[in-house]
Amino acid sequence: MARSAEIATDIATNGSRYRMLTGDRPTGNLHIGHYFGSLRNRVRLQGLGVESFVLIADYQVITDRDGVGPIRERVYSLLADYLAAGLDPQTCTIFTHSAVPGLNQLMLPFLAVVTDAELRRNPTVKSEWEATGERPLSGLLLTYPVHQAADILFCKANIVPVGKDQLPHLEQARVIARRFDERFGRARADAPVFPQPEALLSEAPSILGMDGTKMSKSRGNTIELGESADQTAKLIKRAVTDSDRHITYDPEQRPEVSNLVMLAALCLDRTPESIAEEIGDGGGGGLKKLVTAAVNDHFDGHRARRAELVADQGYLEEVLRAGNTRANEIADATLTEVRQAMQMVY
Ligand code: TRP
Repeated sequence: MARSAEIATDIATNGSRYRMLTGDRPTGNLHIGHYFGSLRNRVRLQGLGVESFVLIADYQVITDRDGVGPIRERVYSLLADYLAAGLDPQTCTIFTHSAVPGLNQLMLPFLAVVTDAELRRNPTVKSEWEATGERPLSGLLLTYPVHQAADILFCKANIVPVGKDQLPHLEQARVIARRFDERFGRARADAPVFPQPEALLSEAPSILGMDGTKMSKSRGNTIELGESADQTAKLIKRAVTDSDRHITYDPEQRPEVSNLVMLAALCLDRTPESIAEEIGDGGGGGLKKLVTAAVNDHFDGHRARRAELVADQGYLEEVLRAGNTRANEIADATLTEVRQAMQMVY
């Protein structure tokens, strides 16, 4: 946390010294939790002059399920939300795993420097595997942290904005960068091939679902960014509150009410305390009315831009193709350095 805060401070004045990579699995549509937890922050970093790479991690979809689902639709849905939120395809490289062979090839030397024991210890892999029930652990689920290291290292990103659950993967990427240098890179006299990437932890409070549990698609408690104003109102109307009519911001004692208060605060860029005070004895009904207006107002522009983008499939395809082309150029350059370090240039 301390290191992450230090970096955040430095970025504010030295944005151009940083290269960011982050990504999402195209397993569903983005919701307001994603927006306040990560998307908004990516746009902010871009604004500070950070060179940005955003990966639509399509190969990660097949780590823990049989098919790919409606993958094309989901990939373009993510892309539409990225652009609607303000990621600029002129400066931000948006790309997919499957279109960048050079990135995927890094997986081979990287697999050579990790052990099965350290992969089996990875707490995030463990919990994701447990979440699949009795499903046998696939080779890809076990090794996807290595693939994720390739995501980060192919473009030599030095910062990776992530949530806490991704920290084990980031540590794995750092270990791989170091070991690659020890085993192969030292054959070269100059600097290591890969920098040490660092995590940039989100400072935004996480938004819970409308039932007061973690916001996630599988729980059916999300508000998607593409949702209509009417549907948003319905979802908020169904949200869980409590019986105390006096609204306060008290996340410990009143998590559901406080979550709604925080959501309004984020949308209105105000403190949660001032929101709670304004509602006072207005009860759950008053709170929901205010939250609905705040969410719908805040996302009105996003939804309109999103709808326009979704209607222009040709443009979305063009943006993704350009991003993939650029990612390939970078991946190929890195792969050349890797081959040189490994003396595999023939
Ligand atoms: N595993 C990440 C998630 O589930 C998505 C992801 C894939 C990612 N590759 C990445 C995040 C590289 C950061 C860096 O959210």
